[in-house]
Amino acid sequence: MNQIERKYDLYSQNFNRNAYATFAEMRAQDPIYRQIGLDGVTPIWFFTRYEDIDAILRDKRFLRDEALSKNPEDRYQPSPLDELINNHMLYKDGEDHRRLRSLVSQAFTPKRIADLRPRVQAIANELIAALKAKGQMDLVAEFSFPLPTIVILEMLGIPAEDRDKFKVWSNALLAPQMTHESAQEALKLLTDFTNYLRSLFAKRRQEPKDDLITALLQAEEAGDKLSENELFSTMVLLIVAGHETTVNLITNAILALSRNPAQYTQLKANPDLMPQAVEEFLRFDGSVERALNRFAAEDINYKGHQIKRGDPIILILASANHDESKFIQPETLELERQPNPHLGFGKGMHYCLGAPLARLETEIALNTLLAQLPDLRLAIPETDLRWRFLPGFRGLEALPVTWLIQ
Ligand code: HEM
Repeated sequence: MNQIERKYDLYSQNFNRNAYATFAEMRAQDPIYRQIGLDGVTPIWFFTRYEDIDAILRDKRFLRDEALSKNPEDRYQPSPLDELINNHMLYKDGEDHRRLRSLVSQAFTPKRIADLRPRVQAIANELIAALKAKGQMDLVAEFSFPLPTIVILEMLGIPAEDRDKFKVWSNALLAPQMTHESAQEALKLLTDFTNYLRSLFAKRRQEPKDDLITALLQAEEAGDKLSENELFSTMVLLIVAGHETTVNLITNAILALSRNPAQYTQLKANPDLMPQAVEEFLRFDGSVERALNRFAAEDINYKGHQIKRGDPIILILASANHDESKFIQPETLELERQPNPHLGFGKGMHYCLGAPLARLETEIALNTLLAQLPDLRLAIPETDLRWRFLPGFRGLEALPVTWLIQ
């Protein structure tokens, strides 16, 4: 088999259903494997073992910024839209990364996040109160999605009446565009999105508030700390991170519990176990399956593989989290697993800035569901579940559930 062809299916519905079996096969047979990526043209190195992924995430020879990994004459010219949405910390290395991260990090310290607890709990209670008497819902649309999106939009200072627009925009920012038509449609949506942000920025400049948008605008105005493109891109990053991550962790956790009744009973009886259980949900079936692409800054001989300068690399975090050489019985959901050095939030300098927020939201969401919706269970056979086509993320399109009405 020509290595460059696609030996492993990493994109289909069938793959998503059995992703961990595919990863086990890759770890055993091809732990470092080069095959064609989603575009059908570009060869990508896929890494699946914990040891390698952990090492590369901390190795400065592997960059996030593709342009820096190339000779100046080989760099492509980013479009104005790319400049507007990709100029954030997760696309940067070195000093630029540090500067952009430090501007936002004050809003995400453990203390600031802990102060949000009563508000997050209140949102969870309101959502449940509105649907408790129904006896059934789509967990994704009616609970897992609204909870973290309301929280991040409130933190940013987006008016409540505009919330629904962000769902469409966030999806347009992330979903791969496989046809010319869908690319055009996405471009139109992103133009609407940037126009919206522009007018919101203008309002906040005139009338500052105690929100993250105002704080970022003040950083921009204070001098050379944040350019206009970086301001837009930072908003994009926080909106996408707030819309596409915790929602899937909450949902995947409920799916995992429904498949593991003993652990489900254990958790219902011991809500104090939840912080530890959340770590296990991040390991067992977290929401971010792969780190964003890395690019080799130089020619590297990695364990006998000749990685060339500029080569793209994908690190499959979900596979590292099931590596049998790191975790005992990795396919078992062990709520009290100790130690649990999962890579669900990444590692190294791009380690998830939102981790304290995601942990808080997931803990509150699951404890509220378990306490308030008795006997919560799937409403359809598992074989009918469909995964979203969003490579790199593990998220269900819907999770219909039912419970007893008391
Ligand atoms: C369960 C929920 C979440 C998971 C599993 C998750 C996972 C991750 C991972 C794996 C990375 C590193 C990506 C890489 O190295 O390529 C990351 C970075 C990041 N995450 Fe999260 N995330 C979650 C929630 C959030 C939330 C709620 C926010 C904030 C609203 C957030 C903000 C960020 C930011 C800003 C970065 C970039 C950090 C940097 O480049 O220095 N995340 N996240």
